[in-house]
Amino acid sequence: MPRRIVILDTTLRDGEQAPGFSMNLDEKLEVARQLARLGVDVIEAGYPVTSPGDFASVKEIARVVRGPTIASLARAVDKDIDAAWEAVRGAERPRIHVVLATSPLLMEYRLRMGPDQVLELAASAVRRARALCPEVQFSAEDATRSDPDFLCRVLQAAIGAGAAIVNVPDTVGYSVPDEYAELIRRVRGGVPDIEKATLSAHCHDDLGLAVANTLAAIGAGAQQVECTINGLGERAGNAALEELVMCLATRADVLHAYCGVDTTQIYGTSKLVQAVTGVRPQPNKAIVGDNAFAHESGGHQAGLAANKATYEIMTPESVGLPTSRLVLGKHSGRAAFEERVAFLGFHPRPGALPALFEGFKELADKKKTVTDRDLEALVLGVSAKVNETFRLDRFVINSGSGIAATSAVRLIGQDAPMPERVSLGDGPIDASFKAIDKIVGKHPVLEDFSLDAVTGGKDAQGEARVRIQFGGRRYNGRGLSTDVVEASIKAYIAAINAMAQDTEDTREPDSGS
Ligand code: KIV
Ligand code: ZN
Repeated sequence: MPRRIVILDTTLRDGEQAPGFSMNLDEKLEVARQLARLGVDVIEAGYPVTSPGDFASVKEIARVVRGPTIASLARAVDKDIDAAWEAVRGAERPRIHVVLATSPLLMEYRLRMGPDQVLELAASAVRRARALCPEVQFSAEDATRSDPDFLCRVLQAAIGAGAAIVNVPDTVGYSVPDEYAELIRRVRGGVPDIEKATLSAHCHDDLGLAVANTLAAIGAGAQQVECTINGLGERAGNAALEELVMCLATRADVLHAYCGVDTTQIYGTSKLVQAVTGVRPQPNKAIVGDNAFAHESGGHQAGLAANKATYEIMTPESVGLPTSRLVLGKHSGRAAFEERVAFLGFHPRPGALPALFEGFKELADKKKTVTDRDLEALVLGVSAKVNETFRLDRFVINSGSGIAATSAVRLIGQDAPMPERVSLGDGPIDASFKAIDKIVGKHPVLEDFSLDAVTGGKDAQGEARVRIQFGGRRYNGRGLSTDVVEASIKAYIAAINAMAQDTEDTREPDSGS
């Protein structure tokens, strides 16, 4: 009998914890809504004690998103647990997730506690969380480098104190599949009350084994798996949701397990996360990479033409990849536009539709045809554009070989044009960024900049991505235009807007997990 696996998505917590992946409240809410559409069982929405911004996003997601359980992370510290509860209490199904390290290394160097203290703290922290919240998850951080007997005692203490879910994280991505499966079996055999709890697996990808380890855990009896969209997460990331879910869907014959995710929402969710984080997976990334369903070799193409099963183990449609090359043009009406957007799996808020349609018309005026890729880029660009503090009004550049480039930029802020500023630079893009710095009166460090063509052809749209750093925090921006300088300026302004919207930086330096 196949087993139903609970999917916990931690894109908004472990994923967001990775440097350069921070999202603002509106972006997190949009991702959370999409995760609910995707059909995950649990959304880990954040780590409220770390910053007012994290607290506010967990609170808003808990208030607004219906369907999945909303989990809120806390260390085994009273103020963390109280903050986690305050943030998540409005959820339809709230969960406090308490984490406490159990490996000798982390107990000694991070917690500065002995095993007995940790054992006691695990129980008291879960008890405190359980007094507030009907559902509590306990995670033994660095479980895979912990003494298995001690790990079993801690998990038993957590269950005894009321934890309904116990998690065995491979925090540093150190395990290999057989070993991790063995640890899961050991926990199942060594924790007397394990049947009273759901056993969870949480794997990091430092050795590229996060998905393999998670599947091994399922084989050994884990009932919940923790993962992120596009495999985002600390360092090398977490197990990728899309890979796990498509393994379950494609290899049910050997895995004997299934989950409740609507696989046709995978592509749209991945794209949304790319848009809000500004980070694109590599082209050969399984399931959601640009080449995941591209067949280049003539022999493969001939085989596919004869029978898709020759080289396709799953269909692009099954993950929601738009395959149609249907094009819209400047004569297409709003109804056709909206229908196509919905067909591609996007559900923009009704309030965003006029701006989207306007963007489509502008694009259709510049380009002969507007393809699905163009539409996708447009929708993601506009939906990621929340609460714009600054907008581009106009720019003029002067550049050429042998002369310094200059750029004059005017922005609109609070609905009125701001004074124009001119700057010299190392090329027109650098000059424009410097002019914007002068306007906003801030000088962030440009950490990353990339430019890609969204579609082919002379009239292709350029997609610029920018990452800036200011005050120890990183902000991403993305801009689209058929003019690459304009795309770059828009991306830079989007990053500046993310910076402007960020709440004061009160993150604790050691935010844990
Ligand atoms: O990797 C880890 O140990 C974590 C815990 C909070 C589950 O992210
Ligand atoms: Zn983790």
